[in-house]
Amino acid sequence: MSSRPKRTEADPFASVRAATDAHRAVHGCGAYPYSNGALLGALAGAANARRILELGTALGYTALWFAHGAPDAVVDSVERDEEHVRIAREHVTANDLDGHVIVYHGDFADVLSGFDSGYDVAFFDGFTPSPPVLKTMRALLRTRGVLISANLTHSGKETEAYRAGLLNRKVWLTAFVGPEAETAISIKL
Ligand SMILES: C[S@@+](CC[C@H](N)C(=O)[O-])C[C@H]1O[C@@H](n2cnc3c(N)ncnc32)[C@H](O)[C@@H]1O
Repeated sequence: MSSRPKRTEADPFASVRAATDAHRAVHGCGAYPYSNGALLGALAGAANARRILELGTALGYTALWFAHGAPDAVVDSVERDEEHVRIAREHVTANDLDGHVIVYHGDFADVLSGFDSGYDVAFFDGFTPSPPVLKTMRALLRTRGVLISANLTHSGKETEAYRAGLLNRKVWLTAFVGPEAETAISIKL
């Protein structure tokens, strides 16, 4: 048997992740940091992304990972909770990423209506996914852009319909990853 030590992943944003967990315990909100920040960074890097859209900033953990993985990208991240926005902006500044990560305050539906299309990568992590948000993200992504959808284990008809949309092979090429296929990685066809 090999006595090689177990490899541990280094997370450059571990402190933001820990701050998110600590904040949630006090705030009683749903700010659960995404389980695999490195996956997001790697996908953004592989796509050579210049424009990234994120729905659900919380305290900025995943936005920072996207910026880390794609250093030439601008990450537009949307969050409706005022306190989350304030702290996320502090984390962006503390990591010298002002101008690379922009945190927009407001509801997805309101904020996204002002965005231009052509995103290389879009990430949904705003609680329960729904077909209207899928439609909006699709319109904002460029053809062959990458959509990453989290929270697909949430129960209910909205999530089921969202999943079914991703499985429409005429419009998306989709692979599921993570425990219980919690996340989907889809290419816009
Ligand atoms: C699961 S957390 C995001 C976690 C974050 N991506 C991370 O990994 O640290 C979901 C966030 O989406 C925000 N959110 C949920 N629904 C929203 C909506 N309709 N518009 C804007 N923000 C929303 C919540 O306030 C919450 O901060």
